[in-house]
Amino acid sequence: MMGSVPTPRKISHMLADIRFPGGTPFRTAREHAEVLTLIRRLVVSAGVVGPDLPLVAVTLEPLNGGRSAARVYKLTPHFGPGRLAKGPPVVIKIASRVQGLSEKVNYDKYVRRVLPAACRPDLLGFGQTRAFAGLCYSFAGGSDSSGRSRPSPNTLTDCLRRGDVAALKRVLRGFFDPLRDTWYGPAQLRTVSDIARRYRDRYFTGLRAMADAERTLLACAARYFKARHENGRCVIGGLSFPSPRATLLAPDATSGRKRPYRSCILHGDLNSDNIIIADLANHASGVTVVDFQKTGRGHVYEDLIHIEESVRINYRRDASFGDILEKERLIALGRRRFRNDPYCVSIRKIRDTAFGYFGCVEDETNYHFAIAAIGLRLMQALDLTHIARARITASTLWATKVLAGET
Ligand SMILES: Nc1ncnc2c1ncn2[C@@H]1O[C@H](COP(=O)(O)OP(=O)(O)OP(=O)(O)O)[C@@H](O)[C@H]1O
Ligand SMILES: [Mg+2]
Repeated sequence: MMGSVPTPRKISHMLADIRFPGGTPFRTAREHAEVLTLIRRLVVSAGVVGPDLPLVAVTLEPLNGGRSAARVYKLTPHFGPGRLAKGPPVVIKIASRVQGLSEKVNYDKYVRRVLPAACRPDLLGFGQTRAFAGLCYSFAGGSDSSGRSRPSPNTLTDCLRRGDVAALKRVLRGFFDPLRDTWYGPAQLRTVSDIARRYRDRYFTGLRAMADAERTLLACAARYFKARHENGRCVIGGLSFPSPRATLLAPDATSGRKRPYRSCILHGDLNSDNIIIADLANHASGVTVVDFQKTGRGHVYEDLIHIEESVRINYRRDASFGDILEKERLIALGRRRFRNDPYCVSIRKIRDTAFGYFGCVEDETNYHFAIAAIGLRLMQALDLTHIARARITASTLWATKVLAGET
């Protein structure tokens, strides 16, 4: 039985006890106090209710690795004397005011009435303090096949690490297919004049950042593939690759002009951590997408390329460095003879989906452009494994070679 929503005054009185596991992550006592006030307000505005007993405490479990500035927690409410009963969990995201507000605005504009309810969490509450903004979402994909609440959601990252490529097919069907009528629909498509500008502004802080990223790429190529740097090119055995940075910034080789691209609405940060997969037993498609801070207009291929890069980053190790270079060659050249290799087949499936959706309105070369640009950007990520770096290095070099028309 659900109880009535407590008043804010009652709640702040009852919820005196909110503790962060491992101590407060906030720098000052003032920030800590602000966040506690925000959480109390969110609990009220989201109408966190349970059995007809007073809410006495909440437990917070961290959900994110703290890569971004936001703090994300699973909040479980406890009711009644001695914390007799637990209510259903929700998610609390505490971000800087600017970032939290932008996520709320994006949710209202692009998500709430646009995405099918099965693909998104509900935004149950929003609040702001001097320094922070807080969002309260329904907890997605939170139970296992026996109906027990999972401690943390099962993300596409978890599936890829286990080698479960079937989950990827569910994402392509369960999330991308419905988007053909909304974000990716013909009514949203526009032509924009300069793809280099889009990728430079979205992924790099400036030209210098691109040059730094290229230096890291060359160091990775030397380490994993014994590459040499000769006359501005990267040479691996008998192969020679052009500079990704120079190729991305150069005008289109055929027209001599800026390279145009097609845009639509995108999630904008569709890495596999932001895709939650429910147990098949519970949901028909069971794919929920979270984290809408970057949602808005962008290049039509971007979301699918973020998924592709997530495969490179997270799919379990399945090849030597030498094999990685060859696999990325086959992928870049659009070959289909992979002998059922699940890594290559998965990436091919993502590309088939991308070209199936947008092939008739967008140049395929722009897919290679985006792979090279995002690959270069990923060189700045600090938390990648050697296998992930080797895969990204190889795919960036091959995409650049295709883009430069050297294959
Ligand atoms: N509504 C939700 N239901 C279940 N899990 C969620 C929900 N929202 C977020 N999460 C989990 O919390 C993680 C972090 O949330 P989110 O992606 O919104 O923040 P973030 O700013 O990207 O954090 P980080 O970059 O540190 O991962 C997600 O990757 C997801 O695993
Ligand atoms: Mg995220």
